Amino acid sequence: MAQASKIVAETHQVLLELLKPGITTLELDKVAEECIRDKGAIPAFKGYRNYPKTLCASINDQVVHGIPSKREVRDGDILGLDLGAIVHGFYGDGAITVPVGAVSDRVGTLLQVTKDSLAKGVASAVVGNRLSDISHAIQSHAEAFGFSVVRDFVGHGIGRQLHEEPQVPNYGRAGQGPRLQMGMVLAIEPMVNMGGAKVRVLEDQWTAVTQDGSWSAHFEHTVALQPDGPPRVLTALS
Ligand code: MF3
Ligand code: CO
Repeated sequence: MAQASKIVAETHQVLLELLKPGITTLELDKVAEECIRDKGAIPAFKGYRNYPKTLCASINDQVVHGIPSKREVRDGDILGLDLGAIVHGFYGDGAITVPVGAVSDRVGTLLQVTKDSLAKGVASAVVGNRLSDISHAIQSHAEAFGFSVVRDFVGHGIGRQLHEEPQVPNYGRAGQGPRLQMGMVLAIEPMVNMGGAKVRVLEDQWTAVTQDGSWSAHFEHTVALQPDGPPRVLTALS
């Protein structure tokens, strides 16, 4: 999982170097697939429940699971880049949301707050805590800035499958659910909307968008719990 997750992080860096107004999400997908395969890994999303691509590319009001297409990103857009890889049967999963050119102050705040809410969730993934301590840390940070947390998609355990137990919601009261244990590996992935929390899925059966059209950000790390202290962030660049 460490190897797969590192490849996810390295592929994100490759995509960031290419990102500029006018590039299509299909072009980014092609580079992502080549990059993952060149490093000896297998794209984790392609073929997963018939998902057709390597990359999930979600623009502006698209929350997650945007399918790469001929759509060009434009100056002022925000773009979610969600990637998974498999090495020796073990999965890694990670997402970032980045500005394309210059974005408004409030949109910049959305990106920073969502990233920080992930950091708060990761910092709560400590042996002895309960699962919902992660959830609560994420929700309280995002809502303190007037944003809302998506309920319809959650983080997850990860290992020999992309999605394993337990589900890791990005909302909830502290102190609930199973105790976190050494060796657990979790994909923690807050999705934060500027407006309301509600989302709907488009006719393509994948792309989730906000119901109110407000913009949304998504960050995800795969983390491995340690005997004590904060977890090892497997999708961090090291
Ligand atoms: N990273 C997402 C997740 O954790 C994407 C998986 S959906 C897929 O669920 F179909 F694209 F694989
Ligand atoms: Co995930």
